[in-house]
Amino acid sequence: MSTTTLAFDETIRNRFSPRAFLPEPLTEEQIRQVLTDAQSSPSNCNNQPWHVHIVSGKTKDALEKAMVRNHSEGIVTPDFTFDYADFYGDYFDRSQEQARIYYETLGVTREDKIKRDEVYIRNFKFYGAPHAAFLFMPSFGDNIRVASDMGMYGQTFLLSLAARGYAGIPQTLLGFHADTVREILGVSEQYRLLFGISFGYADPNAPTHHVRMGRISIDESVTIHS
Ligand SMILES: Cc1cc2nc3c(=O)[nH]c(=O)nc-3n(C[C@H](O)[C@H](O)[C@H](O)COP(=O)(O)O)c2cc1C
Repeated sequence: MSTTTLAFDETIRNRFSPRAFLPEPLTEEQIRQVLTDAQSSPSNCNNQPWHVHIVSGKTKDALEKAMVRNHSEGIVTPDFTFDYADFYGDYFDRSQEQARIYYETLGVTREDKIKRDEVYIRNFKFYGAPHAAFLFMPSFGDNIRVASDMGMYGQTFLLSLAARGYAGIPQTLLGFHADTVREILGVSEQYRLLFGISFGYADPNAPTHHVRMGRISIDESVTIHS
């Protein structure tokens, strides 16, 4: 098996969030290589607070079924808040723009509530990915430092996937049914579900495969002091 990885700049440019995957699974060894990379992530005081559950096969199917059922029954049990209404100004505009690009690529109009719901539900179907990682964390203080450590882990995981020719998408929505996920995976209530990452091989024939979300210029994000 090849263990060749892309150069850093290629890895960064190749990473994107695919919303369609091929069914072909990774081997356990390939997944372990990614997990080994992610394990090197930095964390506050070297806490290493990531508690990660990888799901495939029957377990993933059971989660998908339960999350889709919860959604159809209007049940949501997120451990952390998420509300578009909290966004404002440019932050809100950027969120609208990325949704607009995605839905337009799929040919789904704003008015077509049924199709939009179908697209939303793809989150709970892991966008067709053969694997997903559920990122659980302990709760310390206001949870901000722990969550930032989890973000570090998530990004290393994603870059490792990209460097190795695989792909993944981080999903807040995979944390929307935290009680159900904990129950099915046998996870203690002391661990909170921050987000999940669906991963595998991106489907090169999906209409969204070549869509790339833009970024603002570094001058809008960074102030360089001399
Ligand atoms: C923590 C986090 C949570 C996200 N949650 C979702 C999600 O629930 N569903 C989804 O389709 N995309 C989700 N995304 C993907 C973002 O929409 C995506 O990263 C952003 O639009 C930039 O696109 P790119 O990753 O292709 O560069 C999430 C990204 C991050 C970092």
